[in-house]
Amino acid sequence: MASGCRIGPSVLNSDLAALGAECSRMLDCGADYLHLDTLRPEHHLRPPRRGEPAQAAGPGALLRPEQWVKPMAVAGANQYTFHLEATDNPGALIKDIRENGMKVGLAIKPGTTVEHLAPWANQIDMALVMTVEPGFGGQKFMEDMMPKVQWLRTQFPSLDIEVDGGVGPDTIHKCAEAGANMIVSGSAIMKSADPRSVINLLRNVCSEAAQKRCLDR
Ligand code: DX5
Repeated sequence: MASGCRIGPSVLNSDLAALGAECSRMLDCGADYLHLDTLRPEHHLRPPRRGEPAQAAGPGALLRPEQWVKPMAVAGANQYTFHLEATDNPGALIKDIRENGMKVGLAIKPGTTVEHLAPWANQIDMALVMTVEPGFGGQKFMEDMMPKVQWLRTQFPSLDIEVDGGVGPDTIHKCAEAGANMIVSGSAIMKSADPRSVINLLRNVCSEAAQKRCLDR
């Protein structure tokens, strides 16, 4: 089995003016990791470079994941997940991420099949199956992505598999049963009056499903 069930609150919808405090709050509430999106300019979280022109952080630049590897490593990220759709050379990017000391995650959008991801599965640490169209929090969970998770779990039992988008107490069972072990959750955790209990619930459901899979094998 992959490396345990872990819950990563997405801080995309948090108060970005108080991002540090929001991240600390999530870690205090038991988050196993933090999920930081850099998809949109306003969520561009790398440290600024001295003398850098403003357009370097613009939307076009954000479509080129190659250029943020080093800044993210320097900023302290321990894993860098990029979208398969956003690069022409996944192999080179995987190598670069590793050389910068980070784990590698590879994400696919809802319209991308797992067959596109499969050739890279043995070179990455984590596959991210998006369960909404990437862009913003609070969207409806796409249950029809679960066959992708199931397929990956069957083919690559030790791979970390993450889901992201619309995941919360109402949808975690589907993700857990399909085989996801890394759970990104935005609104359900960030907007809860009791984030700790939501994090615990998500982790418990996920762990129980993982244990059952082991027993069933
Ligand atoms: C979507 C983001 C998600 C989003 C999840 O592009 O990658 O991380 O913040 O938010 P919820 O859980 O509210 O769908």
